[in-house]
Amino acid sequence: MNSIPLEVSELSKSFGGGRMFPWQEKKEPIKAVDNVSFQIKRGEIYGLIGANGSGKSTVVRMISTLLTPDAGSVRVFGFDIERDELEVRRLLNRVSPDPSFFKNMSALENLLFFARIYGMGSDEIKRKSFEILSRLDLGDRIREPMLHFSRGQQQKVAVARAFLTSPVMMLLDEPTTGLDPASKLEVQNFIREVRADHDATVLLTTHDMDEAERLCDRIAFLVNGRIVTEGTSLELRSQIANGRPVEEISMETVFLEITGKTIEEDEEVLVHG
Ligand SMILES: Nc1ncnc2c1ncn2[C@@H]1O[C@H](COP(=O)(O)OP(=O)(O)OP(=O)(O)O)[C@@H](O)[C@H]1O
Ligand SMILES: [Mg+2]
Repeated sequence: MNSIPLEVSELSKSFGGGRMFPWQEKKEPIKAVDNVSFQIKRGEIYGLIGANGSGKSTVVRMISTLLTPDAGSVRVFGFDIERDELEVRRLLNRVSPDPSFFKNMSALENLLFFARIYGMGSDEIKRKSFEILSRLDLGDRIREPMLHFSRGQQQKVAVARAFLTSPVMMLLDEPTTGLDPASKLEVQNFIREVRADHDATVLLTTHDMDEAERLCDRIAFLVNGRIVTEGTSLELRSQIANGRPVEEISMETVFLEITGKTIEEDEEVLVHG
């Protein structure tokens, strides 16, 4: 295992293209991820910020070995996602935007079940499941069926489940999208706490600038599958400051000035074709 948690080099992925029948016109493939390179240092939370459809989940799916890249490479602590798939899977875990649970089982039962799948011993499973769930402020509800859990509560359990195996690399794909502001904050605080305790390195995707600033050590803007800039929030602000005091520049302004669009406008362009 080498010391760089994540090295993404010239990664590309296209979808579709061609035609179903010979008489149809050939469609151009969509370049979902276009020559993306970045590295994450040990213990860092690295944020991929981009509008809907900018390629965030496609990057995450390739890193987690669920999708094969068309070109480029990804190494997780030196292990190649294609050659050393098993080692990579052992090192990382992912929280998807839409995690699934057994709704008739309690949060505790869900964690115990998934921990067994991950191959943890039963004493260790119980101890760790209790330990991580007890931080969720759910009280006795961790023993009730998850059926009536709110999205925010479910999302917390999803993060808890993902950290259960103490992965050294965590991929959080929009962990707070769709949550109300209070639940958002709770999930963000939970992420920060468990990350620190497990000393994990984190790749987080979001289109929420505040979240990026609150959680991420470094941030990259992804636009149409390409990284257009990368740095700490201070570095990104300084890039466009032009004599203005950096603390007065919002991340939205940085995104607007660097990409020429607000993150919502970028999304609208995609929705309307
Ligand atoms: N399996 C697939 N087949 C065809 N096209 C796909 C597939 N997965 C993604 N795409 C396309 O690739 C582009 C990037 O999608 P992706 O899901 O990576 O974006 P995203 O940044 O995660 O968006 P969101 O914020 O909505 O989650 C989009 O144009 C999408 O339609
Ligand atoms: Mg996505």
